[in-house]
Amino acid sequence: MTTGTTTAPSGDSADGTDEWWRDAVIYQIYIRSFADGDGDGVGDIAGIRSRLPYLAALGVDAIWVNPWYPSPMADGGYDVADYRGVEPVFGDLDQAQALVNEAAALGLRVVLDIVPNHTSAAHAWFEEALAAGPGSAQRARYLFRPGRGPGGELPPNDWRSVFGGAAWTRVTEADGSPGEWYLHLFDDGQPDLDWTGADVREEFRSVLRFWFDRGIDGFRIDVAHGLAKDMALPDLGADEEGLLRAPDRSAHPHWDRDEVFEIYRGWRAVADGYDPPRMFCAEAWVSSPERLAAYVRSGLLHTAFNFAFVRAPWVPARLREVIDTSLRTHAAVGAATTWVLSNHDVSRHVSRYGRVDQAVTDGRTATGAVDVELGRRRARAAALLMLALPGGAYVYQGDELGLEEVENLPDEARQDPVWVRSGGRERGRDGNRVPLPWAQRGASYGFGDGAAWLPQPPHWAGLSVEAQEADRGSMLWLYRDALRLRRDLWGAAAGQLSWLDLGPDVVAFVRGPGVACIVNLGAAPSPLPPGEVVLASAPVEDESLPPDSAVWLRTGRR
Ligand code: NOJ
Repeated sequence: MTTGTTTAPSGDSADGTDEWWRDAVIYQIYIRSFADGDGDGVGDIAGIRSRLPYLAALGVDAIWVNPWYPSPMADGGYDVADYRGVEPVFGDLDQAQALVNEAAALGLRVVLDIVPNHTSAAHAWFEEALAAGPGSAQRARYLFRPGRGPGGELPPNDWRSVFGGAAWTRVTEADGSPGEWYLHLFDDGQPDLDWTGADVREEFRSVLRFWFDRGIDGFRIDVAHGLAKDMALPDLGADEEGLLRAPDRSAHPHWDRDEVFEIYRGWRAVADGYDPPRMFCAEAWVSSPERLAAYVRSGLLHTAFNFAFVRAPWVPARLREVIDTSLRTHAAVGAATTWVLSNHDVSRHVSRYGRVDQAVTDGRTATGAVDVELGRRRARAAALLMLALPGGAYVYQGDELGLEEVENLPDEARQDPVWVRSGGRERGRDGNRVPLPWAQRGASYGFGDGAAWLPQPPHWAGLSVEAQEADRGSMLWLYRDALRLRRDLWGAAAGQLSWLDLGPDVVAFVRGPGVACIVNLGAAPSPLPPGEVVLASAPVEDESLPPDSAVWLRTGRR
């Protein structure tokens, strides 16, 4: 792989600075499921490269690629065996460089995923730690501890894995005896690192430089809220689901501890050392908007995913509240807000919004009957809402096709460790990772030449890119139109929003030179104020907005 040959796309953001991420639309590529270039059923870098013109035509500013590093795939690549390589199933470093260069030529930036909370159990560090034994410097990079109980047969504390079961696994020492336990907040193939160590810190700064030197524009930080632990490793007092009994999360022993900020101050210095400076986005599941804003204070990270928006149901008061709070808490620290509707960890929003009972939808878990067509109508409206808000936005692959969660995958096809570790109680996340349909025909609807690693529903032929390109009223065209218009209407230069009061069922605001975004969440049509319809998620007749639809309206009024 040649280095240093890539220049970032020249298009500065609307405010004339190189803080492009303040209002960028970033397209998330779950690499295993985006496009398969070599016909082995798994998406890869060749597949992404072949679809870059599609992404440029869609009108996004950047792509974020989920982990593509060498990995045993215990958790879809979030178990990294080598942070400086590329998983052979996905390609190699030369292909990665070619992707970065080709993306830049099309004006697309590239953001990668860094996984600092844990490595894979197949990482050389963990293998050395197992071999070196208790008390060694190699074990000190992870959280190895003796067990409790007379023979050390009980885990060191009561922490639970996010995926189910205990967060500790016991190892067998080199002499064959039962040995220490190691911490894994996720799968047992994902041992947690001990971030108090200088070599762990230096290693990750070096990994950042490795990829920044190759022209990568930024990183999404996996489990950004998990790196620091209370090193006394106290019991959590959690119930079976890992929920804290005590409501006070300020002193949680392994989530969202203040010690993480010092780590990110160091990372920011690395990113700021580049021209143009590189960016970060935190994946931080925290307890309040104020805590999220703490990650994006001056000198720390640039952005963080707004999961409060993901969790908000299709209820006007809840959406208004989450928008207000997100904007207020981010403005207080001078940071740009982000907006997210779906990703590879949550139920796709077509299905979330399609649940008749919105009270049971919180983004991650969802039950109850789904009306997919209702969900799709709402998803069209939600796209216009999200893309009109101040800040940056993330589009998860397939959002632009209106894909729903595939809830009826055969059990034997499921690969998410959540499915296995929960003993089949939780279906896990495979349903949002089903490979994209690109064409109306073929073994995997154009995803690749052969069958895909997860089966696609046959009716997705009608949702394929090919089918939607031929239909001017499709979700794909709505996204294309919205992204094209967004640059002029809703970029950073459009400024903050002012709410319009059009009744309790309507979420409406105006930004910039008199353009309003109006969303009707009610059951009855809502009269529109005078103006010119620029874009609508459903046909607008008689100056009234149908239920579950949205419009961008030029009102001329500020
Ligand atoms: C968050 C990632 O988005 C998710 O897919 C993964 O399972 C966990 N972090 C663990 O790395």
